[in-house]
Amino acid sequence: MSNRNQIEQFIRSTLSNCRFVVVSNREPYVHRYTDSGEIECSRPTSGMVSALDPVLKASSGIWIAHGSGNADRAVVDRSGCVPVPPKNPQYLLKRVWLSPEQVESYYQGFSNQALWPLCHQAYTRPRFDRHHWRNYQQVNELFAKEVHHAVGNSRALVFVQDYHFALLPRLVKQRCPQAVVAHFWHIPWPSPESLQICPWQREIVWGLLGSDLLGFHIPQYCRNFTAAARHLFPRIKADQRNTLLGGEHSTKVRAFPISVDFEEIDRLAASAETSRRMEELRRSLKLSKWVGLGIDRLDYIKGIPERLQAVAHFLELYPQYQGQFSFVQVAVPSRTEIPDYQQLSETVASLAKEINARFGKDGWEPVKLISASLPMAEITALYRLADFCLVSSLHDGMNLVAKEFAAARCDNQGVLLLSRFTGAAGLLRDALAINPFDTEESARQIRRALEMSPTEVRYRMRRMRSQLRRRNIFQWMVDLLAASVECGTAPLGGTEESFPAAAAF
Ligand code: G6P
Repeated sequence: MSNRNQIEQFIRSTLSNCRFVVVSNREPYVHRYTDSGEIECSRPTSGMVSALDPVLKASSGIWIAHGSGNADRAVVDRSGCVPVPPKNPQYLLKRVWLSPEQVESYYQGFSNQALWPLCHQAYTRPRFDRHHWRNYQQVNELFAKEVHHAVGNSRALVFVQDYHFALLPRLVKQRCPQAVVAHFWHIPWPSPESLQICPWQREIVWGLLGSDLLGFHIPQYCRNFTAAARHLFPRIKADQRNTLLGGEHSTKVRAFPISVDFEEIDRLAASAETSRRMEELRRSLKLSKWVGLGIDRLDYIKGIPERLQAVAHFLELYPQYQGQFSFVQVAVPSRTEIPDYQQLSETVASLAKEINARFGKDGWEPVKLISASLPMAEITALYRLADFCLVSSLHDGMNLVAKEFAAARCDNQGVLLLSRFTGAAGLLRDALAINPFDTEESARQIRRALEMSPTEVRYRMRRMRSQLRRRNIFQWMVDLLAASVECGTAPLGGTEESFPAAAAF
């Protein structure tokens, strides 16, 4: 079962007698004013949106999310709902309005300056601010009320997304005991030792333990979570399959590695349109004979400065490639209100400039930095024309760029260089593994990629592609839904007090 139609059938049969509710911070459709004052609706490029949109369409469910577009309010009804997709509405998007202060404290603050660096070992210090935490709690409460409003006491499957909503599962379970609550944590879960620096670790773990099903990308994050839960609440028992039992309530903790829409990317990559764009990009970017590629949100977990340093070292070690090699780095601006992200943007721009000044000659420049969000058609063309794609995350829950690159290589060409510290590394064994902190190793692996025999390139790429063809985004969704519908709706039982905390480590 691995394509869009099959998932639709599965959903119609399994979710037919229950309400399907998705909660996420980022909305699946955003309305914005154009320069001429018209309203434009766009879909954010997001693996989560591609996975969940077809499920919502097939189940006529409801998606609750923060209304963040500047024209969002202009298109909703009195209860904040708008039918989507705009051209052929199939489900309801319920927008929740947050004040500028809530966005600042809950989203930019606790979610992205405390939990994000806490969960990623990228050596950016988490910021624990009481005011941010209070707003995080309040916003989780606000979303719980919205879920209750949508679900009441009916049978429902509430599917909560990510680290913005650690407290939501328990809040929803308390208000809607008939609902099955599944939560997917899209980022790594830290070791218990790392987690303990968070002053609110207990509340966060307790909130997540309200879920019937708690999903992570890989088994290691499941083990980290289970260890933390058992340490913080010693009366909680775990069975062999990582199901945590507290009173009558149990939380299944399972790994579901997220993936990409393989068929869609493959189809786009093989189109005549992509071939045309490849030619255009080669010309407009003045690409050399050999091309390397990096595509990321501009985030400190992605190891972009480390990658550019590896490119510079490669040119230094192997001067025969000077004048013959281009490295295209697409850096999509992200969370631009947060100082660490602003600083990173400056670092990356000045590093690219420095490398170009150092190696550039006779009109040739090795680094092409594109600081913008590109449409998928353009990204696919870049994937197709690259000799290698370099993913150098310092720590990443999964990394979908790695999977998209392989999905786009319908020609079975191209080498993937993949950081050992990504969830994807454990699955895509035919990539060349790198340690992004080791510039020397990365530089040597770049050369290895460029000089690999065509037979080996094809062999590795074919194997990665056949894996992804099967383990695609729809399979991820089906596995998660199947595990969710198997969950009973046992009452929560117990209070936080009945599961007392252990002494600190
Ligand atoms: C990560 C998170 C996602 C989030 C994405 C973009 O991948 O796991 O939940 O959607 O980053 O971040 P943003 O802050 O722009 O929503």
